[in-house]
Amino acid sequence: MPEYEFPYRNPALPIEQRVDDLLKRMTLEEKVDQLMQITIGADTNPNNLGSGHSFRPTIGSVLSYCGSTRNRNAFQRLAVEETRLGIPIIWGFDVIHGWRTAFPIPLAQACSWNPDIVEAGCRVAARESYAEGVDWTFSPMLDVPHDPRWGRVMEGYGEDPLAAGIFGAAAVRGYQGEDPSQPGTVAACLKHFVGYAASEAGHDYAYTDISSRTLHETYLPPFQAAVEAGAMTLMSSFNDITGTPAVANHYTLTEVLRDRWHFRGFVVSDWDGVVQLAHQGYTTNPAEMCRAALSAGNDMEMNSSAYRNIPTLIESGRLKIEVVDEAVRRVLRIKFAKGLFEHPYHEEVDPGTVSLQPEALELSRAAARASMVLLKNEKNTLPLNPDTLRSIALIGPVATDREASAGAWPAIIDPKTIPTLQEVLPSFFPKSEIHYAPGCDYTSDSTEHFAEAIAAAEKSDLVIVAIGEGAGRTGENRSYTNIALPGKQLELLRKIAAVGRPVVLLVSSGRPILYPELEPLANAILHIWECGHGAAAGCCDILTGAYNPSGRLAITFPRSVGQIPIYYNHHPRARDEKAEWGGRYFDLDDSPMYPFGYGLSYTSYEYSDLEISVEDLTAQVTLRNTGKRAGRETVFWYLSDPEAKLTQPLRRLIAFEQVDLAPGEERRLTLQLDRMHDLAYIDPTGKKVFEPGRFILSVGGEKAEFVVAE
Ligand code: GLC
Repeated sequence: MPEYEFPYRNPALPIEQRVDDLLKRMTLEEKVDQLMQITIGADTNPNNLGSGHSFRPTIGSVLSYCGSTRNRNAFQRLAVEETRLGIPIIWGFDVIHGWRTAFPIPLAQACSWNPDIVEAGCRVAARESYAEGVDWTFSPMLDVPHDPRWGRVMEGYGEDPLAAGIFGAAAVRGYQGEDPSQPGTVAACLKHFVGYAASEAGHDYAYTDISSRTLHETYLPPFQAAVEAGAMTLMSSFNDITGTPAVANHYTLTEVLRDRWHFRGFVVSDWDGVVQLAHQGYTTNPAEMCRAALSAGNDMEMNSSAYRNIPTLIESGRLKIEVVDEAVRRVLRIKFAKGLFEHPYHEEVDPGTVSLQPEALELSRAAARASMVLLKNEKNTLPLNPDTLRSIALIGPVATDREASAGAWPAIIDPKTIPTLQEVLPSFFPKSEIHYAPGCDYTSDSTEHFAEAIAAAEKSDLVIVAIGEGAGRTGENRSYTNIALPGKQLELLRKIAAVGRPVVLLVSSGRPILYPELEPLANAILHIWECGHGAAAGCCDILTGAYNPSGRLAITFPRSVGQIPIYYNHHPRARDEKAEWGGRYFDLDDSPMYPFGYGLSYTSYEYSDLEISVEDLTAQVTLRNTGKRAGRETVFWYLSDPEAKLTQPLRRLIAFEQVDLAPGEERRLTLQLDRMHDLAYIDPTGKKVFEPGRFILSVGGEKAEFVVAE
């Protein structure tokens, strides 16, 4: 039995015992270091260490990609072998939708309605990033956006809280695996806690006026679901939550997250989030920033260094050492649970043997085709027949763009490794002549290439127009008042449509874009999002019919920015929305261009015979594939509570499932309703309240009213 110099080094001991032993050995300075995360910037080469590099090996965490595991291990060796207590550093990075293998952006993945795909993609990202030195990813993002002007809409799982929680939990399982102490896993970090997506007017970093009710009904549930899935960390958000910034918000960080949810991991601030308290009008005093954030429950400070004021605060009695110890305890707990003391160094392998492997690329392709959404298919323009289609014109900037497929937050994805549509299309249509023309770029006013594109369309039987937002238009600090496609892309589409050939429109974006002027110009429309390495092949799988599109929108597409905020689970008005005096817009159709849950298939489905047994609260409905192709249908179960002391949304999603059906096949589906999970609502204090009375269950256009007395 090996002897351990100190109990905290003994992996056989319970983690809490190891934490206690280590904590009592730490000096205040060592404790402060553990609560700070630095970046080593561009200078990540340990060979420069001798040059007085500012690297403190007693630091708690580093946000950086050191270029290789060898470099990361060299820095880690300083922490583990050349400091008094040898506490390993936890290395963090934004691995949002892939490390080297790019998966669809999270908003696209949500449109697959397949948590298994989300989990599998995160598992690949964990394996690939761990192999290059990452211990901890700042993902999944669980914000619930209602405003597509906000660029970070691409990073979450859409507008429904239940769905965001289910996908968030899947991501946690993918990143952390069965045992997060094992190599090949990374700690998850739920962000941004909480309410960031409510940033006023779609600005980034903006004030958020969030009622207690909305906080508990919309923004907190996804985080609770992912905490219950075992997430090891959270990140506090930039936004000011109705007057108390999230980084210093005791209610969310302690009363909810610790006291109610019993979360035992740690919370890191967002980048400079602690010192941004000055800009938010909270305090300009760094010591007060430190005191407020730490006391609220924000354990680690990212990038800035207000937490260097801890010793002063302790000496002056403005901060108790117990608060500091509790934060350090949480950080150490996760470092022990992550196995960092046993595996401080990652095996130095050739990334080429771990990343971009065939099965990962195949998974990216499967995720891509499952995430794309068929918005229009007039006269069954799609699928195309590679055997009979003699010539295709491929037009538009997306056809050759690799960056767009990489999406925002690309980690170290190399766009050069991402196949383009122009490269891939010929292999799917070997008998067709393909005439490519750029047509235009994304943003300029140039129409100099229009003629060439029109000529390509004129000599083809069918035209594929591939346009979109282009890279860099979504992500952090990418707010736009106009969410129509930029540049001259609409004009290009008009010119091509005027040629008179069938037009298949492919649109790539990181957010909902405006379709009203695009829609009439195409016979078929496939929204292809930004889907990573598998984007081009996944798109062609759909174009040829090899895959029957199953994507359904996880976020509402408005007709106009003037409708924002617009989302499916909104509250009823005082009058019937359809009535003349119902409060509608007088200059625009009130309805969304494409609603939440919308998406077409190459087959058709029919729902019938919805029944509810009030005795045991089971609901049943028959789903039939009435078309000629096998398909995957996502079944959305919605609940309405038309009479409640706290008025409820018109409907809310309470469950979803995916059903594969052969042509003509039908299935009797059953949903077991739970009184508290499904019928109760969340009150402004966060309590679930079941109010007996009338409910309406709807699924696939079928509705059934039922009464639950007690
Ligand atoms: C950024 C983002 C956050 C990210 C962090 C580290 O500002 O808000 O999502 O994880 O900084 O890059």
